[in-house]
Amino acid sequence: MPSVTSSDGPVAVTGASGYVGAHVVTALMKRGYEIRACITDTSNPDKTGFLAALNEVHPGNLSLHQANLLDEGSYDSAFTDCSAVLHVGTAMGYGGANNPQQVYDGAVNGTNNVLNSIKRAGTVRRLVYTSSFAAIGHPAPPGHVYTEKDWASDNRENDPDWTTDNLLDKGETGYAMAKVECEHLVNRVAEEDGSFDAISVCPIVVLGPLLSPIHELVFSWQWAMGRMLAGKPCNRGWQALWNCVDVRDVGESQALMIESDACRNGSRYQLSATDESGELTVKQLQEHLQSLFPHIDVGGPPEEYNAMIEKHGRPYDAPRAHCDKVREDLGLETHSIEDTLRATGETMIEFGLITPKLK
Ligand SMILES: NC(=O)c1ccc[n+]([C@@H]2O[C@H](COP(=O)([O-])OP(=O)(O)OC[C@H]3O[C@@H](n4cnc5c(N)ncnc54)[C@H](OP(=O)(O)O)[C@@H]3O)[C@@H](O)[C@H]2O)c1
Repeated sequence: MPSVTSSDGPVAVTGASGYVGAHVVTALMKRGYEIRACITDTSNPDKTGFLAALNEVHPGNLSLHQANLLDEGSYDSAFTDCSAVLHVGTAMGYGGANNPQQVYDGAVNGTNNVLNSIKRAGTVRRLVYTSSFAAIGHPAPPGHVYTEKDWASDNRENDPDWTTDNLLDKGETGYAMAKVECEHLVNRVAEEDGSFDAISVCPIVVLGPLLSPIHELVFSWQWAMGRMLAGKPCNRGWQALWNCVDVRDVGESQALMIESDACRNGSRYQLSATDESGELTVKQLQEHLQSLFPHIDVGGPPEEYNAMIEKHGRPYDAPRAHCDKVREDLGLETHSIEDTLRATGETMIEFGLITPKLK
């Protein structure tokens, strides 16, 4: 299907008020798009205020539309006449907001509903689906470098947990299975329908500037990093590598995906570290933060870290993954890891989300 420009009609973004969604919206606003920003509750000023304010600073034009992924037909009105849909929203598990079964069902049913609304609109040429590295990472030896050719369903022949039975007891498995299922679903429906292409974007550890205090999201990567600036030990991902991508790059890449002729149905882009500079052990993360915020007494590994090092010698060497394809195919220019970490910390401090532990 032909690519899209800002003169081809409005574009719609689901999950527009979320951390990633807000940056997708911003990238499109900068390019002058008319944007239908879809959120679950247009009467909540915490979710609408910062989005509406984007109209003051960018050439694009944003309007707010209330819709819920769990309600069939909910997006019909917002998608009318749209040339592209960027489907970012999904039921997340942050802070226990949804259990693993709800995460799985919400993603699959919600994506089905989005696809049905796209078909009814009849004008959409591009769908960008926000998947996750969770749909890529699979059991592999340490040091394995993942690419878009990898699927989370690979090497699962002997894994009894890779089923949708008893998802409640399987933590993140439901999320990974849902992302794999949804990627296949959007590509299959697009293929059958023939009037639009579906492209997936698979971000990994997303960090970078928060546009609103609501983006703190308990147990997100930014939340875990913020705790370190408050002098607390890292409580997420310290057993392996933080493979970091900037949220601005995730947003910008999605705008490129609707505009590029390099994308077609089934195209898939991993949004991960640019190179090894963005693949950090918890010690390296602490060192980076310490040099970026020299006045703060930055937290480091938790107590259990030393026992792990004694046993294994080093943190687990995974996940290794670099966003070469999106840079080569779409010309994405990525932020440096220092810029990403600095912007994350500075915005969290500005919003008063953390009280830094000063030296
Ligand atoms: N952050 C990461 O590190 C990361 C990494 C990989 C992939 N991702 C993906 O990026 C996407 C956004 O995640 P995020 O981290 O930005 O989380 P987020 O801020 O919590 O965004 C999730 C969005 O989904 C929307 N949503 C949830 N349930 C909904 C429903 N029933 N109907 C309509 N919208 C609903 C929420 O909208 P309302 O606020 O309007 O309720 C919210 O804006 C997700 O698809 C996630 O899987 C994120």
